[in-house]
Amino acid sequence: PYPYYADLRRDEPVKWLDGLQAFSVARYDDVDKLLKDGRIFSSAQFWPALLGEYDPVPEVAPMISMDPPGHIHLRKLANKAFVPTKVNLLRDRTYRIAHELINDIIAKHGQSGEFDWAWEFTALYPVTVIAEVLGVPTERRSEFKVWVDLVLSAANRAAYGPEKLSEIEKASKSLRAFIEDLYDHRIDNLGEDLISSFIQSEIDGRKMTRLEIIQMATLLLIGGVETTTNLLGTTLVELKRHPETYARVRADTGLIPALVEEVLRYNPPVQIIFRHTTADVELGGTTIPAGSAVMPILASANRDETKFANPDVFDIDRKIDFPLMSFGQGPHFCLGNYLSRVEAKAALEVAMERFAQLDVISDEIHWIDSYFARGPHTLPVRFKAA
Ligand code: HEM
Repeated sequence: PYPYYADLRRDEPVKWLDGLQAFSVARYDDVDKLLKDGRIFSSAQFWPALLGEYDPVPEVAPMISMDPPGHIHLRKLANKAFVPTKVNLLRDRTYRIAHELINDIIAKHGQSGEFDWAWEFTALYPVTVIAEVLGVPTERRSEFKVWVDLVLSAANRAAYGPEKLSEIEKASKSLRAFIEDLYDHRIDNLGEDLISSFIQSEIDGRKMTRLEIIQMATLLLIGGVETTTNLLGTTLVELKRHPETYARVRADTGLIPALVEEVLRYNPPVQIIFRHTTADVELGGTTIPAGSAVMPILASANRDETKFANPDVFDIDRKIDFPLMSFGQGPHFCLGNYLSRVEAKAALEVAMERFAQLDVISDEIHWIDSYFARGPHTLPVRFKAA
């Protein structure tokens, strides 16, 4: 997609796409500007477009699909429950989970051989972290993962037949009932988990309602699982493509955070997000009529040559002068950005420690089939345990 994004930035920074029935926005400054203007560029249709009738909590909008001023209050309450100090408490658990998953891999495949990094590690790790954060009992986790994956797949619902759709519907109901149970149990037994934090979070005497918390937990699952999964998959792909960087990271795992930042810039898990205009508006020299779908291309903004020198070069030493767009910008800036960085650092450190060798086998990468999400669908690797 990147050469195409470069053409768009140069020639058609704001372009009507017939196929997608939306305006794409390719330049950093335009993306930045629109994401900071939630009044004109509304998020309200985001969730309905993503999940349709498979939204597990249709009674209330999740904050990712709310506009100012309603969004602000909920976001403040969520921030309070999600502050970095609380995320830091999770750090030990992320390392433990990474070790457990790698124990399973070694138990299954022996001391050396091949396994699928995408399916056997990255697809399991973030959902396990969030399950743990939400206080899901260990023995319910695999069931829980199946529901989360099915609900996430609702984004692709146009491509599915009745059988799969009815599976998604069941999963949506099960997930909801499950999160309701978590909440109902917690309300009288507050603990260290995130649902307890949401229950306690209070600003100006207002707390989140039961439904708001149930929807918030669902949002974390939809927003926080596949994204981090894809980040960890793509990181290994980029290490394969940049062997000198890989050798440096092997020699000095202190470089992992810089590696993760560069992967986030260079090949971000969320390539594109969605807005709708509430009024006629001029952007990048084009007039966008009211009621239009707009797609800011985050992955293109990250390669804008006016912000990042030699943007097509993968360089973990690069000096970053402008914020990456990988987590969005403005009021909806990713709530989980810090958690996902903590998760990625822990997973990669543990992987480097436990595997003396961990190499993507093929140069040909089978990417997931999506124009807005990016990550390897499968990723066979050759490994040797340390
Ligand atoms: C919002 C990306 C991980 C929770 C966003 C947005 C992006 C994004 C681009 C902005 C959406 C918009 O403006 O419409 C990512 C990426 C991740 C990641 C690339 C991993 C590498 C996570 C994690 C969580 C999370 C781990 C939580 C556990 C959220 C939430 C929002 C959000 C709740 C909505 C915030 C709001 O509406 O105020 N994310 N995300 N994300 N993300 Fe993430």
